[in-house]
Amino acid sequence: MSTPRTLAESTTLRIGGPASAWVVARTESELVLAVTRADAEGIPVLLVGGGSNLLVSDEGFAGTVVEIATRGLAADTDESGATVTIAAGENWDTVLAHLVTRGWAGVEALSGIPGRTGATPIQNVGAYGQEVSQVVHSVRVLDRTTGAVRRLDNAACGFGYRTSVFKRDPARWVVLSVSMRLISGGRGFVRYAELAQEMGVSVGDEASLADIRAAVLVLRGRKGMVLEDADHDTWSAGSFFTNPIVTDEVAVAIAADCPRYPAAEGVKLSAAWLIENAGIAKGFALAADSRAAISSKHTLALTNRGNAHAADILDLASAVTTRVRDAFGIELDIEPTLVGLER
Ligand code: EPU
Repeated sequence: MSTPRTLAESTTLRIGGPASAWVVARTESELVLAVTRADAEGIPVLLVGGGSNLLVSDEGFAGTVVEIATRGLAADTDESGATVTIAAGENWDTVLAHLVTRGWAGVEALSGIPGRTGATPIQNVGAYGQEVSQVVHSVRVLDRTTGAVRRLDNAACGFGYRTSVFKRDPARWVVLSVSMRLISGGRGFVRYAELAQEMGVSVGDEASLADIRAAVLVLRGRKGMVLEDADHDTWSAGSFFTNPIVTDEVAVAIAADCPRYPAAEGVKLSAAWLIENAGIAKGFALAADSRAAISSKHTLALTNRGNAHAADILDLASAVTTRVRDAFGIELDIEPTLVGLER
């Protein structure tokens, strides 16, 4: 089954030309077959889930898009919780709504994130004090170097801030399903200051999963991070830059009001703060009639104001990184995957 369409129709940035071929994989075996067949024939493959982390060239993709549309959720329950296995193609937020209804805790703060479940371990999705790496039990994958289907346990996934073995070696792995270990009881902990403030509780307090989910959806909506057709602030790939992790020496030189968080290899600084304090305000665009602009609700989101080309986004990204480099000597890294493009 092949349905050629443009990547603009399948990405949240709504940018990108057509693909040479398009396969919608609705079962795991269709997914494995589509990728292994293309690999055997030497045809490039672009895996697309929700398209929420992709910036694709206007020329499109000279190869086969394999759209991950697999479905299924199975729960293995015990006295303390559940091990839930979710097909890669399941819409992440639909899954979250279900998990919260079942009272299973561990990912409620990741509510409202666009995209499909299989993408979440790849960039170790995180928000409001949780990261999927904290609950991933194992990930079932196709290893394209051998054609074998394997299960990687949490340690083998090599998780870090917005990274994993899947992100480091994208040509090797296809995520087929994700198993997560969740805790029963319907309550979770609030671990992010802004979320606690929104809920009128303190960091570390307990709250119902439904209340946490509702508050996260309000916060994300306010930041333009919940997809909304009519709101161009949401035509984005979420955070376009990761928060830079710098050494203690670099961090002390940055003004104290820049939010910072401890990280494995140093200090994580707020990229949004650095961008704003380098002189780029919310809503910034390179020209009055630019088709790309910084979101008017969050400086980390680069947005398509309608009919933007990939180059418009890249030019804006380059202006942001230049200004931050000039102001602070810090190099911002791009978070979304670039397809057919170079920075
Ligand atoms: N800030 C600004 N300007 C803004 C927004 C934020 O100066 O427009 C400053 C504020 O001082 C704020 C601080 O940055 O206190 C942190 O902002 P926020 O809580 O929005 O978090 P973030 O670090 O900008 C990260 C993730 C988001 C995630 C939020 C909430 C990354 C790259 N981004 O953003 O994830 O939703 O935390 O936990 O780590 C994504 O990765 O696509 C994403 C949306």
